[in-house]
Amino acid sequence: MTAALVKTEIRGRVGLATLDRPKALNALSNEVIGELAKALREFDADEAVGAIVLTGSEKAFAAGADIAAMQPWSYADVYSQDYLGHDWESLRRIRKPIIAAVSGYALGGGCELAMLCDFIIAAENARFGQPEINLGIIPGFGGTQRLVRAIGKAKAMDMILTGRMITAAEAELAGLVSRVVPVDRLLDDALETAALIASKSLPSVMMAKECINRAFETPLDEGLLFERRNFHALFATEDQKEGMAAFLGKRSPEFKNR
Ligand code: CAA
Repeated sequence: MTAALVKTEIRGRVGLATLDRPKALNALSNEVIGELAKALREFDADEAVGAIVLTGSEKAFAAGADIAAMQPWSYADVYSQDYLGHDWESLRRIRKPIIAAVSGYALGGGCELAMLCDFIIAAENARFGQPEINLGIIPGFGGTQRLVRAIGKAKAMDMILTGRMITAAEAELAGLVSRVVPVDRLLDDALETAALIASKSLPSVMMAKECINRAFETPLDEGLLFERRNFHALFATEDQKEGMAAFLGKRSPEFKNR
């Protein structure tokens, strides 16, 4: 049996997935992405999990798609397998929140994978980049789309056309990451944040994620209506009654739907 390329565990109500292909700096082969998609789908379906953390090693979150695997492929090879479709695409359909805890390199598909998560907490040593241009290709899993939305056209063009890496500090300034923490605090910080999210009412967490993601795909009018209808829907939950009663009673809420 081959060793797992993605390690999983559940800590409290947090599902933790760790990319574990150290010899190739967590290069994202089809096998790695297949295991990751399976792991995240299982967390998504598991009632014991309220939020997910995805991380790598201290040296590399992930150094990109697997260049050794890709190098000999022809157009017919990548087209017929719909490379970067299937399992990669299925990651987008995870409904529970996913925090990317990024230390070291997040390059190419690694940066794209981090951006696919709901937000990124970066260690001080994190380096983000889309170096595909140096390989004679372009980003293939959302880099040209999500990076622009995250940091704007000027910086996205700069990074994608030059292939240069940015530091955690620059990434925070640009809005790519939500916060930067010392390397030795990264996992604890991400797990604590995920645990905090997992302590909320799950339907409201999932609807908030869905509404925020909808903001990128709809005109404002439709996005506002989508938000308002979801807001209305939460009044059908016991947790809305409990959350508001707890506030008025000056106590902590005890949510049932977690
Ligand atoms: N694919 C396959 N193997 C990789 C890899 C990748 N993306 N990145 C690193 N490795 C391998 C190296 O080949 C090396 O293997 P060997 O020990 O067998 O030689 C091992 O990991 C360690 O890497 P380095 O010796 O290069 O380590 P370093 O510390 O000197 O440099 C690095 C680190 C700057 C991250 C460098 O490895 C690097 O530039 N990696 C490639 C980054 C890249 O171009 N990513 C984009 C890939 S294309 C893509 O992702 C397309 C897409 O949009 C989906």
